[in-house]
Amino acid sequence: MREFEELARSRLPPDVYDFVAGGAEDEVTLRANEAAFARLRLLPRVLRGAGRRELAVSVLGTDITMPVLLSPTAFHRLAHPEGERLTARAAAAAGTVMIVSMGSTVAIEEVAAAGGRGFVPWFQLYVQPDWAVTEALVRRGERAGCQALVVTVDSTVYGSRERDLRNGFLDLPPGFACETMRNLTGDGEVRSIRMAADLSWEHIVRLRELTALPIVVKGLLHPADALLALDHGVSGIMVSNHGGRQLDTAVATIDALPGVVEAVDGRIPVFIDGGIRRGTDVVKALALGATAVAVGRPIWWGLAAAGQDGVTQVLELLRTEIDRALGLCGCSSVREVTRDLLVREAPW
Ligand code: FNR
Repeated sequence: MREFEELARSRLPPDVYDFVAGGAEDEVTLRANEAAFARLRLLPRVLRGAGRRELAVSVLGTDITMPVLLSPTAFHRLAHPEGERLTARAAAAAGTVMIVSMGSTVAIEEVAAAGGRGFVPWFQLYVQPDWAVTEALVRRGERAGCQALVVTVDSTVYGSRERDLRNGFLDLPPGFACETMRNLTGDGEVRSIRMAADLSWEHIVRLRELTALPIVVKGLLHPADALLALDHGVSGIMVSNHGGRQLDTAVATIDALPGVVEAVDGRIPVFIDGGIRRGTDVVKALALGATAVAVGRPIWWGLAAAGQDGVTQVLELLRTEIDRALGLCGCSSVREVTRDLLVREAPW
C-alpha cells in the first residue's frame, strides 16, 4: 500500500501531492489516525478451522463483497484525466460502494454511468448556505441513482491546510471544475462549494423531509452526538475526522469508535475512516464494532499511480490482507471478529 503513495508522489505535481497527503495545521490528527491503529494489538485465536473466510457484509441494504467502502475524495481528475469514471469502474469491479464526493471533477451522472451495472454510488453532500442549491444537489444525486446521502458535518469552517497555503494551492487549476456544481439552477454556471457555518440538526431534519434516501452523517466523533443522530432518524454514522484535514488534534477515529458504537448499541450501522492502510486495521475496526470501514487517500494514490488498475490493486490488496488477517485470527467470517481479539499495546 505504501508503494502506491510513493508511485503517486513521483507522478504528481508537488502541490497536488501535498493537497492530498496533507492535513490541518500541525497534522497531529493526520498522524494519530494511523498511529492509534498501530497501538492496538491483535490477540488471535487458533485452531478454529478458519480455512475459508467470508468477507461479505451488508450496508444499508446493499451486499458488498468486503467491509471496505471508498471514502469521498474530491478532484480525481487531478490524479488521472478520466478521474472519477475510473474510480467508479474499479469500485464496481470490486463489488463495493463508492461514496462520490460532491467535489468530483466528473458530473455525478457520468460517474454513475461509468460505473455501469452493479455500481452502487452514495452521494456525499456539504449542506450549502443556499437551501435551493442544497435541494438541487440532492435531486441530482437521487436522479443519478445514488442509494444513500452522506452528509459531511465536520466542515462548518474549512480546515487550515498549511501545506496548501505555503504552496498557494487554493483552488482547482484551470481546466478542472466540480462538475456536479455546474448548472444547478439552470444558468450553466459552476458554483463554488461553500460551507454552511450554521450547520445544525435542523438541517438533518430538513434533509430527511427532502429525500427518502438513507442519510449517513459523516464526521461525527462524540458519543453524545451519536445519540442525537439516532434521535434525528439518521440511518448510519461515519466516524471520521476528515482524514485529519479539519480540526487538528481531534481524536484519532479508531479511539473515538468505541464510544460511538456503545451509544448506538447496534441500532444503526457505524462506519469509520481515517488511517486505514492494512487489512489488520480493518479487522481492528470490526473488532471495535464497525460495520465496515472506508478508505480515502489510498484510492487517490492508486488512481494517480495506475488509473483504474491502480484503484483495483489497492482494493484487492486490502481484500487479500483482510482475508489473511481473519485467517490468522481464527475467524471464518467478518461476523466472528469480536472485541476480545484486541488488546492495547501492553495488555498488563
Ligand atoms: C477528502 N475528504 C473528503 N470528505 C468529504 O466528505 N468530502 C470531500 O469532498 C472530501 N475530499 C477529500 C479530498 C482529499 C484529497 C482527501 C485526502 C480527503 C475526506 C475523506 O472522505 C476521508 O474522511 C479521509 O480521507 C479518510 O482518511 P484517509 O483514509 O485518507 O486516511
